[in-house]
Amino acid sequence: MSRIRTAIFPVAGLGTRFLPATKAVPKEMLPVVDKPLIQYAVDEALAAGIETMVFVTGRGKNAIEDYFDIAYELEDTLHSRAKHDILATLEGTRLAPGNVAFVRQQEPLGLGHAVWCARHFIENSPFAVLLADELLWNPESPCLKQMAETQERKGGNVIAVLEVPHEHTNRYGIVSPGTIEGAVTEVRGLVEKPKPADAPSRLAAVGRYILQPEIMALLGTQEKGAGGEIQLTDAMAKLIGVQPFHAQTFVGQRHDCGDKAGYVQANISLALERADLGPVIREYLKTV
Ligand code: UTP
Repeated sequence: MSRIRTAIFPVAGLGTRFLPATKAVPKEMLPVVDKPLIQYAVDEALAAGIETMVFVTGRGKNAIEDYFDIAYELEDTLHSRAKHDILATLEGTRLAPGNVAFVRQQEPLGLGHAVWCARHFIENSPFAVLLADELLWNPESPCLKQMAETQERKGGNVIAVLEVPHEHTNRYGIVSPGTIEGAVTEVRGLVEKPKPADAPSRLAAVGRYILQPEIMALLGTQEKGAGGEIQLTDAMAKLIGVQPFHAQTFVGQRHDCGDKAGYVQANISLALERADLGPVIREYLKTV
């Protein structure tokens, strides 16, 4: 069984739901408490034992490259002032040299196209895809780790899912379910953004995927799907029945940080968990 070594982070979207904030700052750089969204996703990949991080970027996303670089002047100044505790906060931004790549998606043609842009980096092995604007929070048992364990047992492809309200199925890729074993559901089909009346279940894909390399050839046909975009869901649907395909129901908190309400909730929720901030925020919330 080949271990998952590469994670792809598609970060080339326009982030229109977050304008004007995302006019000059990538959505993935928006902070939840004091860490940008992209750092939470990278930490999750590292916790699943992944070594190589591939970011699919677009215009205006340079802040992400700078973020994962050494900020020499800043770090030197902090060293000379003996601010070791502050320096320690930068630890997670240091990725292993040679194990970080940035590839451009010149036009935002869809998530499937963004993943395909990273095809030369996956070494013909299974790989992970993480959408950083979905903050899946379970520090004890991170989502991708839960999925990697299932992938080791079942082989093939594994996607993370959550049950969403019936009336929201038209916002997600929805699973047509087969056999269910606890948190693991066999995937018999996938439908992109079905109307509630047409949805085969309420199990929605929530931005974490472990995929087999064969998907790249399917994405390479560049067929357009829902919304005129090259959809990852359409290519995944073609692997069902050809390779094992399972959905892992994520156990933990999900915050949709591509959405304003979800983003604000994530900040409150994670701040409440922190020893340094929780008491102050809890007191404040009582007053509003
Ligand atoms: P979204 O559907 O959230 O789109 O993309 P978006 O552009 O980021 O945000 P809105 O809807 O305009 O506010 C889901 C993920 O796929 C990436 C995005 O960066 C995001 O992580 N993506 C999407 C790409 O990298 N390229 C694309 O062409 C489309």
